[in-house]
Amino acid sequence: MKVKNICCIGAGYVGGPTMAVIAKHCPDIQVNVVDINKERIERWNDNDFTNLPIYEPGLEEIIKKCRGKNLHFSTEMPQKIKDADLIFISVNTPTKTKGVGAGQAIDLKYVEESSRQIAKHANKFTIVVEKSTLPVKTAQTIKEILNASTNNKQDQKKEVSFSVLSNPEFLAEGSAISDLENPDRILIGGDDDKSIKALVDIYAHWVSKNKVLTTDLWSSELSKLIANAFLAQRISSINTISALCEATGAHIKDVALAVGMDKRIGKYFLNSGPGFGGSCFKKDISNLVYISNHYNLFEVANYWQKVLDINTWQQRRFINLIINKMFGTISSKKIAILGFSFKANTNDTRESPAIYICKKLIEEGAILNIYDPKVNFQQMSKDLENNDSEMNNDIKWRYSEEVYDTFINADAAIFLTEWDEFQNLNWQKIKKAMRQPAFIFDTRSIVNIKEVKESNLKIWQVGYGY
Ligand code: NAD
Ligand code: UGA
Repeated sequence: MKVKNICCIGAGYVGGPTMAVIAKHCPDIQVNVVDINKERIERWNDNDFTNLPIYEPGLEEIIKKCRGKNLHFSTEMPQKIKDADLIFISVNTPTKTKGVGAGQAIDLKYVEESSRQIAKHANKFTIVVEKSTLPVKTAQTIKEILNASTNNKQDQKKEVSFSVLSNPEFLAEGSAISDLENPDRILIGGDDDKSIKALVDIYAHWVSKNKVLTTDLWSSELSKLIANAFLAQRISSINTISALCEATGAHIKDVALAVGMDKRIGKYFLNSGPGFGGSCFKKDISNLVYISNHYNLFEVANYWQKVLDINTWQQRRFINLIINKMFGTISSKKIAILGFSFKANTNDTRESPAIYICKKLIEEGAILNIYDPKVNFQQMSKDLENNDSEMNNDIKWRYSEEVYDTFINADAAIFLTEWDEFQNLNWQKIKKAMRQPAFIFDTRSIVNIKEVKESNLKIWQVGYGY
């Protein structure tokens, strides 16, 4: 079977970039990305490319090249489902906020709804591919929804049938395009060789076959959760050691380097910081905890829960440390916040450590000036929204358009995201702008320490015991 037409349900951080790269490498395939969010689709179709809904280095160029040729964004879900030989489900899978499993289990309502839409509109044999990160065994639910519909419609649509595959995505935001162009592996789980081959053939347009790993459905679904859990575990591990470095006078970067040079350990994901953010690590590990408890594996659940606990502990630790260093109070003090996205090179703020830290600083009475090269005012307002009307009467934070303006009259500056531009700042200029004595808190160890010290500002860096 040769796939000529793809539909992707969900035009988000995964659906958009992933389909763009498929379209780029497969000019013989028509790729349709559909979404219920009209505004998001309009922005994908905007001729002002700076208004694309997602910022990713390299994405704009691909959209310019492929959009309107073999890459299309629309809300016309029924027609695009009908046209498709293969459908990716790439919708959001948030943590449940209420009911059984609230705070831990994944809310599968968007996946279910997508499956029902496919069941309703597909009119031929269709391969359905899980692209979203899903709890192990979700493919069973999708199969049941799809098969129930074919049973109901047996008389009218004899030719309709489905094959369900799992093909989790491992891209990281900020490097999504290069991750997609040159993936470490492509994982495909399934039990139907013909459909697996059809999907392998798509990736074969640009990925060498020795990077394609095929497994059963459940191993594929579970591997995605576990990959994220292992990555997050490394961050929590190094963050515990950052505190130990500060207490003992050791330097976290040297420790990470020495440890990471061991091939068995490896050098990646050993940067200590304000804890992991992003839409996935917390939700996926919470889900792992939930699943482990469900199977009565309480020790397993407790082990992974600790990875989450350390993440919040690191953020609380930073708040207390900042207040202590600033003479025990930050009430009415001006604090510059540098970076609001959860990591560099993305405009995504989901679960960003900056949100928690900024809210806590505001609660303590500080007035914030926040700068981020890619996060806009509307997004910050949404993230910092406070229902306490008394607090809303006062100005608690301001949006800063320009990096140096952020420091004007500030008593402290806190670096929360590792944007490149923060590594080459003019510290003499900053020193003049700030109210003295001024404190610099570098939660990512990114500023030029020599120059900060030369400008006589007080500096604290994560994991540095000086
Ligand atoms: P997202 O919120 O950016 O995008 C999901 C999109 O799906 C939204 O635009 C939403 O409107 C749309 N949607 C929801 N229900 C729909 C429906 N019934 N019909 C049509 N559209 C619908 O989410 P994302 O970051 O792209 O993540 C999607 C999935 O991929 C999640 O399971 C996530 O865990 C996983 N994932 C994310 C990343 C990442 O870096 N963000 C990486 C790997 C895997
Ligand atoms: C992560 C994984 O890296 C991807 O493989 C996965 O596909 C994705 O989750 C997902 O399933 O959503 P992402 O969250 O986009 O990707 O970005 P990461 O680079 O993993 O960073 C996550 C968080 O950890 C960020 O807040 C980052 O600043 C932090 N981090 C990362 C550290 O604090 N230290 C590090 O050494 C690395």
